[in-house]
Amino acid sequence: MALWLISLLIVVALVVCVAIYDIVQPKDPVLRTFPVVGHFRKALSSSGPKLRQYIVAANDEERPFSRDQRRWVYDTSDKQSSYFGFGTDNTIDRDSHLIVKHSAFPDMTPIGENAPLPCAKILGEWRNRPHAFRPESMVYVSAMSYGSLSARAVEAINRGCDIASALHNTGEGGIADHHRHGAGLIYQLGTGYFGCRNADGTFSLDRLVETVASANVLAIEVKLSQGAKPGLGGVLPGKKVTPEIAAARGLPVGKTVYSPNRHSAFHDVDGLIDMLESIANATGKPVGIKSAVGQHEFWQELASRVDSRNMGPDFITIDGGEGGTGAAPLAFSDHVSLPFRAAFARAHRPFVERGLDDRIVFGGSGRLGFPAEALLAVAMGVDMIGVAREPMLALGCIQAQRCHDGHCPTGITTHNKWLVRGLDPTDKATRLANYLVGLRSEMIKLSHACGVPHPSLVTADMVELFEEPHRSATARSLYDVHDRADLSAEHEVAIRSLMTARQD
Ligand SMILES: Cc1cc2nc3c(=O)[nH]c(=O)nc-3n(C[C@H](O)[C@H](O)[C@H](O)COP(=O)(O)O)c2cc1C
Repeated sequence: MALWLISLLIVVALVVCVAIYDIVQPKDPVLRTFPVVGHFRKALSSSGPKLRQYIVAANDEERPFSRDQRRWVYDTSDKQSSYFGFGTDNTIDRDSHLIVKHSAFPDMTPIGENAPLPCAKILGEWRNRPHAFRPESMVYVSAMSYGSLSARAVEAINRGCDIASALHNTGEGGIADHHRHGAGLIYQLGTGYFGCRNADGTFSLDRLVETVASANVLAIEVKLSQGAKPGLGGVLPGKKVTPEIAAARGLPVGKTVYSPNRHSAFHDVDGLIDMLESIANATGKPVGIKSAVGQHEFWQELASRVDSRNMGPDFITIDGGEGGTGAAPLAFSDHVSLPFRAAFARAHRPFVERGLDDRIVFGGSGRLGFPAEALLAVAMGVDMIGVAREPMLALGCIQAQRCHDGHCPTGITTHNKWLVRGLDPTDKATRLANYLVGLRSEMIKLSHACGVPHPSLVTADMVELFEEPHRSATARSLYDVHDRADLSAEHEVAIRSLMTARQD
């Protein structure tokens, strides 16, 4: 028999087998009714999002990050021109479009190599912490744990932060060897107290001191919540607790661990302040909190108790509800906690009203890893910009949104050996550093356009948002930014001379 005939018979036999299987299987009614052809619908619906990304979606359509935003990160990380031609393709007078109001007399301070952009404040200064310091980069890589990220991704981030003199937040999964490639760390502890826990899961100050001493930890962050899933606990299945993860987190290998949805080490605002002070006293390092913003009373009470006790956090990081996560229920990501701008405005104001914002360093995160968005946050009072998914893009993330299922195609949020092999930590470290430097450089250029040498000197009057056609308002009036939130004269003098010195 001719070869083509045999092949044809095999194909027909296979199709008949698939058809019989489809007709008798009980689960999928479409396949039961439309055997064989029903598979085409499945194939199209699963590849639809990928095809849309490449072919159909407009430049500004996709979320969390549009094609324009992704392209800007990719080009910046590649150190290629990140310029766009022909002019904007956005409609710029609606949909909360952000406008930076330039000065007729831009600032001309030269931008130094690697675009140095130090924080305007000294972390830990007001409480005289022995290891108070000024972060050399006001942009840093926000918390992402080893566990949610692969070993190579953590290594690339650490090396990249080192090159760009930026801080690297460990996330709540403890400190692994991959965090030890040179960058200064913010050690984060969450409700699981990974790296600082007793066998029963409670907080151990002694273990924390050991962990902090074991690495280049410059500051410590107590995580109350994150924007993508506030008020939600977590489970780390035993099969994911490998010897390496167990060592970083202080867990027995292979044992399933639960992180509760709230801290067991304190139960109210005073307890939180006590804990922060005890950590700072034991380590000498600046301490702070990270939180999403929900009920307002907490922020009122925190500011009031910090004021009356004259102690508490050296820094406060506000994470917007649009923030990222390795995995979370949709209801939490979509509906729990305020988006960044509203969140920051509400949490910051009680501190401004008491004149505390001058002492505390405020951090912000939630899709802020782009020059204009970062500038608006700084104009509202943010001192440090935390970025997480934008650095993932710099490492090669294609926004496949598979962080939760172990199949991240770029080896960033998976532990699959073959997929992780695709990520070269040395190359990606350089790309991350390029991105951080590029972001800083454009933030400085925008500040120059506003007539000042540093983003912290850009005020909330210099940024405007178009709510609807022909109607715009300044960030100050939209978010009720108090003029006392502007940088104090003392900080202004310091930051002006710092910028001149750093750019030489
Ligand atoms: C993969 C992944 C893991 C994360 N892990 C943590 C974590 O351990 N602790 C935390 O406070 N936030 C965590 N986050 C949130 C980020 O630190 C950040 O606050 C949030 O994604 C907003 O920043 P972005 O919009 O620049 O991504 C994680 C985010 C991602 C994408």
